[in-house]
Amino acid sequence: MKITRRNFLTYSGIAGTTGLITVSGLVNSPLNFVSLAYGEEHGFTFAYISDSHLIVKPGYAREHRFTRALKKAVADVNTISPAPDFVLYGGDLAQLGLKEELDLGRGILADLKPKLHMMVGEHDWYYDLGDKWQELFGKPWYSFDHKGVHFVVLNSVVVEDYWSAGNMSQMERMLFMAQLDNPKGKPFTVGKGYLGNTQVEWLKKDLAKVAKNTPVLVFSHSPLYKYYKSWNFWTDDAGDIQKILAPFKNVTVLHGHTHQVLLNRIKNITFYGMLSTAWPWPYAPQGLPELTRQMDRSDPFNQFDACGTGKIMFGSKGGADKIYDLWDREPMMVAFKDVVAGKVPSQPEAQHSGPSY
Ligand SMILES: [Fe+2]
Ligand SMILES: [Fe+2]
Repeated sequence: MKITRRNFLTYSGIAGTTGLITVSGLVNSPLNFVSLAYGEEHGFTFAYISDSHLIVKPGYAREHRFTRALKKAVADVNTISPAPDFVLYGGDLAQLGLKEELDLGRGILADLKPKLHMMVGEHDWYYDLGDKWQELFGKPWYSFDHKGVHFVVLNSVVVEDYWSAGNMSQMERMLFMAQLDNPKGKPFTVGKGYLGNTQVEWLKKDLAKVAKNTPVLVFSHSPLYKYYKSWNFWTDDAGDIQKILAPFKNVTVLHGHTHQVLLNRIKNITFYGMLSTAWPWPYAPQGLPELTRQMDRSDPFNQFDACGTGKIMFGSKGGADKIYDLWDREPMMVAFKDVVAGKVPSQPEAQHSGPSY
């Protein structure tokens, strides 16, 4: 039987108890749907997990649901066969940047079988300005090469000092940052959310030694374009970063932070938003980026509706096909060739069939 992309997704949806594209019943089977469907086209795959927002409540009788969600994500990724080459974590591991939240997260992520690359989110950072996160995970920006692709991991949640003048405590600083609808204004709004000069200069130098036909994959927490400033879905110096990336033939940016299926293409750069394991954000009220297919959250009482993890299949000639592994929906495939052609990804039919119980 010929396995097409369309029926591949259908089959994986029927059998996918974990929401992952690898069919759990076939994990140990030589028949692998991924290689059947995509075989020759991809050089390698990797998985991502993002925005777990772990909360630790002393004396809380049972494990918080966000903790259970991250454990589920780690277990899901560990079942993918063949195993992804590595896992990218997209930031916001903690909710309030507390030591106990970050320690908890590191302990859970330590169970991942593939190698882990970490990125920081604003929820990890603004309690102690990154001290604990860096102690656990190292530098907040770096690059590495993997099978002919140059990967860059950024700290895109640097903001101007909004705390010193008001003499804010550590927790006040964190909460000021964490509120989506802060009536006093958002740090990304009253100040700037950006990479900052030091990091931009580092990025220029890092990319100067990379050949222009090398595929480049950038990993940022906030989107590297201007989506919706009032919710911090924004990077102020996005234009500068896009210019640095402009000479490269094939650039992919993956970001967390927006907790939704999100797609955009600006010139040579394709941007994909990642899913959260904790909750989905709604779409911004003022328009959607090009190519984005809005998803309804049909069941707000279902914690996992519109949450999940994801998988990227990097093409042997560059360009990434992306699968959103929605925990309570059909997986959503975004094919690179369709993005380049300006085609909005189709929604899975099951999405309109109401909540799943
Ligand atoms: Fe987040
Ligand atoms: Fe975030």
